[in-house]
Amino acid sequence: MNDDGRIDVLGAGGVDRETGTTEDSQAMADTQKTDRGSAGAWSPASWRERPAKHIPDDYPDVAKLADVEHQLSSYPPLVFAGEARKLTTRLGEVAEGRAFLLQGGDCAESFKEFHPNNIRDTFRLILQMAVALTFAGGKPVVKVGRIAGQFGKPRSSPVEKIGDVTLPSYRGDNINGMDFTEASRVPDPERLLKAYAQSASTLNLLRAFAQGGYASLVNINKWMQGFVDNSPAGERYRALAARIADSMEFMAACGITPETTPALAQTEFYTSHEALLLGYEQALTREDSTRPGEFYDTSAHMVWIGDRTRQPDHAHVEFCRGIRNPIGMKCGPSLDADELIRLIDILNPDNIAGRLTLIARFGSDKVAEGLPKLVRKVEGEGRKVVWSSDPMHGNVEKTETGYKTRPFQRILSEIGDFMDIVEAEGAHPGGVHLEMTGQDVTECTGGSNEVTESDLSDRYHTHCDPRLNNEQALELAFLIAEKLSDKRAA
Ligand code: PEP
Ligand code: CO
Repeated sequence: MNDDGRIDVLGAGGVDRETGTTEDSQAMADTQKTDRGSAGAWSPASWRERPAKHIPDDYPDVAKLADVEHQLSSYPPLVFAGEARKLTTRLGEVAEGRAFLLQGGDCAESFKEFHPNNIRDTFRLILQMAVALTFAGGKPVVKVGRIAGQFGKPRSSPVEKIGDVTLPSYRGDNINGMDFTEASRVPDPERLLKAYAQSASTLNLLRAFAQGGYASLVNINKWMQGFVDNSPAGERYRALAARIADSMEFMAACGITPETTPALAQTEFYTSHEALLLGYEQALTREDSTRPGEFYDTSAHMVWIGDRTRQPDHAHVEFCRGIRNPIGMKCGPSLDADELIRLIDILNPDNIAGRLTLIARFGSDKVAEGLPKLVRKVEGEGRKVVWSSDPMHGNVEKTETGYKTRPFQRILSEIGDFMDIVEAEGAHPGGVHLEMTGQDVTECTGGSNEVTESDLSDRYHTHCDPRLNNEQALELAFLIAEKLSDKRAA
């Protein structure tokens, strides 16, 4: 595939029933091996020779899975190489401290919550947050959704027990079903096709919103005003929102409007998800025909490696090292500084700024202990990375009534500590990675609307982890904005 969107569609090939790979992917493994430094030859299929965690190995019909993957390998790419390269450039700006990264969306997208309004509301939320952050931080914000492909989930336990019934865990709508029945929990390859179709139409709508005028700054400003007027915390943000509105009036008076300046009516919006289900990712990986030997995973602009699948010699790291997309990697309390350097050697051997985003997810009680040594080591070795904070995954608590939740204060506290620590170690606190939705759900406690534990049952809709709701996410953006603005003043 090349920058004009031309695609090298793989030829038809048979399916190897033993390995679950197609002849094409086998052929790719043999003939398209590219040398990626000391780690040896890579191909889109070379991950299959490595141990893999959190990829289901219990598909009842392996031949069917291979058929589906083969089918997907001839489908249109969802993004193209030039876009992924552009995102790398943008993230390079973040790594150098000249831009800020806002990445967010559902923990897990689902077939059930697939609705244009949900897509619109998440998109709108990200834009509103980005405006507050841009204004306060005085830097462009790179907007990356956890959307249009964020389905597969690593689970802490392979089984779920309710009463005396034990069933395989739910693993994301692209693998099995959430209903607690035996039939629903069986992995079904057809779900991959449905996930692809949903990702494609989600991305189509996002592209329309981003380019078609909906993302106009005038609109965003109107939505901000709505939030300020209707939120209990409104007063606190009124001043900042008013300054944004004033700036826009001033620009309009100078003749800078969405009509005269198309940049004000459009935005760049990127997609991302965890590269968990590597058979699917491989099927969407294509060679850039203008740059032979360069492969892009066209399922999203950016993909990341989860905290549970970042073993240096395992499949997920192997797959990600060879694709040219910008890559994220979650860094949790169990990650040792030397191991991190080893992973950086593998994932970003050419030390390209923007290629690798390290997403710290420690928990508000562990970040002060665990993060400084990682940043110190990486900076000390001169590695160019984006430092981002995922303040969600280390802050999960279980209520007495059995709900997984995350207190707003812990989320805020981890982000604050993250920013101070990264800065103190001489690097740039580059961004945040959030689980959030534009819907008015009750999944995380706290925030100025004071969601309590007993409120959780009202609108608890997530298919996996608890998300910040629209109000909580916006409030968080304003609080981060205040912090950015303080840092800027200092
Ligand atoms: C996630 O981002 O949904 C996730 C599973 O995170 P982590 O890999 O950090 O646990
Ligand atoms: Co999650």
